[in-house]
Amino acid sequence: MKKKDLISITDYTRNDYLRIMELAAEFEKNPNQNLLEGKVVASLFFEPSTRTRLSFETAISRLGGRIVGFSDSSSSSVTKGETLHDTIRMVSNYVDLIVMRHPIEGSARYASEVSKVPVINAGDGANQHPTQTLLDMYSIIKTQGRLDNLKIYMVGDLKYGRTVHSLIMALSEFEGQEFHFIAPPELAMPREYTQFLKEKNIPCYEYTDFTPEVIADADILYMTRVQKERFSDPIEYEKVKNVYILKNEMLKLTKDSLRILHPLPRVNEICTDVDSNPKAYYFTQALNGMYTREAIIAHTLGLK
Ligand code: CP
Repeated sequence: MKKKDLISITDYTRNDYLRIMELAAEFEKNPNQNLLEGKVVASLFFEPSTRTRLSFETAISRLGGRIVGFSDSSSSSVTKGETLHDTIRMVSNYVDLIVMRHPIEGSARYASEVSKVPVINAGDGANQHPTQTLLDMYSIIKTQGRLDNLKIYMVGDLKYGRTVHSLIMALSEFEGQEFHFIAPPELAMPREYTQFLKEKNIPCYEYTDFTPEVIADADILYMTRVQKERFSDPIEYEKVKNVYILKNEMLKLTKDSLRILHPLPRVNEICTDVDSNPKAYYFTQALNGMYTREAIIAHTLGLK
């Protein structure tokens, strides 16, 4: 049987998305299930992470599996010059599944081509973060009751923010969407994504002003951090690092049903006075990540 990697969100069909939503809801009701008994999962993080790594490792533990790997590649033989090819070829001899984050775009696809066992992309550079997208979708369906007919406002670093790229691709599989992109010109949504939406006849609007009036009609306000680590010139980062800051008073015109998402970590783009607003959903969103990653693992290994 062909192994089922998750490298790009487009590796999954609309039916896969819906199946993951269903499984995540099951795992939320009953997170501890011994489906991974006797199985070993490699958790290879070549780039820092808090939520993705810990929610994956918690998901594996709750499913009764064992974890090997590293959270800092400086403790691996990469420091001696070992290539990604050789690292993955070796590790895939030991384990049943590989979860990998790497700073280079395309590295996860390359790893999947070398690996004997399925690979799940936990983020490759500014390219894709498909498991974040699935947990975002689970957060949307839980809070809005649907994945279609949504007005989605994305704010901040839409150039380097890989989570927004994957989310656009996935949500475009559902009818009636309207996308609104709020970013400074330096961090605007890359043309390939606006062009993709245009070709699918999905409306998208671009703004540089981040005001209460602009966001008044949103169902989902998806805030992002300016991705400091992706800038080659620190002066360019300094120019845009404080570009948009969401304050509680800016939410007065928004719908009661609005929910604010953020993949986290946050730096300063959401003031802490927003945290106690019932529309703030980002910490629960991160919790949803654990159930969603249990669902992804079970789906990848055909355990459900
Ligand atoms: N959302 C996300 O990917 O967070 P981490 O970088 O902490 O894993």
